[in-house]
Amino acid sequence: MASDIKILTDKINIPGIETFEVYRKNGGYAAVEKAIKKMSPDEIVEEVKKSGIRGRGGAGFPMGMKWSFLAKPEGIPRYLVCNGDESEPGTFKDHYLMKNIPHLLIEGMIVSSFALGANKSFIYVRGELMYVIRILEKAIEEAKNAGFLGKNILGSGYDLELVVQPGGGAYICGEETALLESLEGKRGNPRNKPPFPAIKGLYQSPTVVNNVESIATTSWIINHGGDEYAKLGIGRSTGTKLISASGHVKKPGVYEIELGLPVEEFIYSDQYLGGIREGHQLKAVVAGGSSVPILPANLIMKTANGEPRLMSYESLSDGGFATGTMLGSGGFIAMDETTCIVRNTWNFSRFYHHESCGQCSPCREGTGWMEKVLHKIEHGHGKMSDIDLLVDVAKRIEGNTICPLGDAAAWPVGSAIRHFRDEFEWHITHPHEATQKGAVFMNKSILV
Ligand SMILES: Cc1cc2nc3c(=O)[nH]c(=O)nc-3n(C[C@H](O)[C@H](O)[C@H](O)COP(=O)(O)O)c2cc1C
Ligand code: SF4
Repeated sequence: MASDIKILTDKINIPGIETFEVYRKNGGYAAVEKAIKKMSPDEIVEEVKKSGIRGRGGAGFPMGMKWSFLAKPEGIPRYLVCNGDESEPGTFKDHYLMKNIPHLLIEGMIVSSFALGANKSFIYVRGELMYVIRILEKAIEEAKNAGFLGKNILGSGYDLELVVQPGGGAYICGEETALLESLEGKRGNPRNKPPFPAIKGLYQSPTVVNNVESIATTSWIINHGGDEYAKLGIGRSTGTKLISASGHVKKPGVYEIELGLPVEEFIYSDQYLGGIREGHQLKAVVAGGSSVPILPANLIMKTANGEPRLMSYESLSDGGFATGTMLGSGGFIAMDETTCIVRNTWNFSRFYHHESCGQCSPCREGTGWMEKVLHKIEHGHGKMSDIDLLVDVAKRIEGNTICPLGDAAAWPVGSAIRHFRDEFEWHITHPHEATQKGAVFMNKSILV
């Protein structure tokens, strides 16, 4: 059973924690002092490697390894860019962190920039969140006035300028190379890779892009050591993770969990989501944001082998896409028996079609095609062959695009048909019933 240790949210409810004064009084900026005064940049990278932390933006790539890939050519600046675009449906944890405890991110940005040798770093924040941008700008000003940012930080000779950039207002601007394009003032179109940002990123210079939660965690790692962090969690899923929980649960919100927590405990215990709303039953879960495969209730509770499913990268993906899913960005959406899976899949598909940048044909055409076919089925005009057509289109997008948005659009459709095919069929064989207001197919996979 996982502990209730908190390393990101332990101080979040202290009144005034958003101010430099209160944050500092509660141990804030100790990691900057330790890193800059007592550690070399390589030692910091080593601690992050030892921690085993995997990037919290969705892909779960080991953070220390990413840092060690950063090219260091003489005379060329390096950049750290924090990804706070957070536009994935179901994910709202970075927003929570930035607005409530902005100095945790600023502190992490200073430590991480020092480790990477960056003298100018950026925080790219979802453009709609202007009030969060103002909060971060105020926090930066306070840190600067206290000597933790700007020229000659703490008398060390290290300079760092921190810039907050409002996002371009599109989901695709969260994809790291689209983000860099947007930061350079261009349309947020993903770049072809290679070269990866670690070699040629912002302004063609070596760049690390990390998620808000990933960077915010570095302060704890520096204060306590990478080995201590690696003791938390389970296996290769070290540490804690912020989960944005929404849908038909009694207590939606942002939760910090130790990785390895059983999914059942997360959903049903009072410490976390408190169960499904009164009088209803769990039907399905999207565990990691709208991009990851949907699972029916029985498969989210237990793997196909009957093992309890855990909130970890490995356990959630156990069984591959046939019976598993992904931790993704931790957007946990629980759906009860009143949810129409066809409608939900159509809704996701509208989103991906709208957000496709249009550069590659499989994504540009395929997302539109899937949306149209799903609209037809949902509105009582579907044919049986449409189901296999959807599977076929999804397969043709997957793996054939410049960026992972194509996969993100294909997986929800493929998985919904894999696990809820009977519901799609029912929409086609019973168009009159299925189009009644509030009509829902009572799926056999509801957990009773
Ligand atoms: C369409 C799309 C949207 C994305 N949006 C975000 C986002 O809002 N925030 C984020 O951190 N990563 C997002 N990512 C992942 C980033 O490309 C990148 O992997 C991540 O910022 C790296 O940080 P990490 O290693 O700390 O996870 C997105 C990826 C795709 C394909
Ligand atoms: S996969 Fe879609 S969003 Fe990504 S580059 Fe291609 S068209 Fe654009």
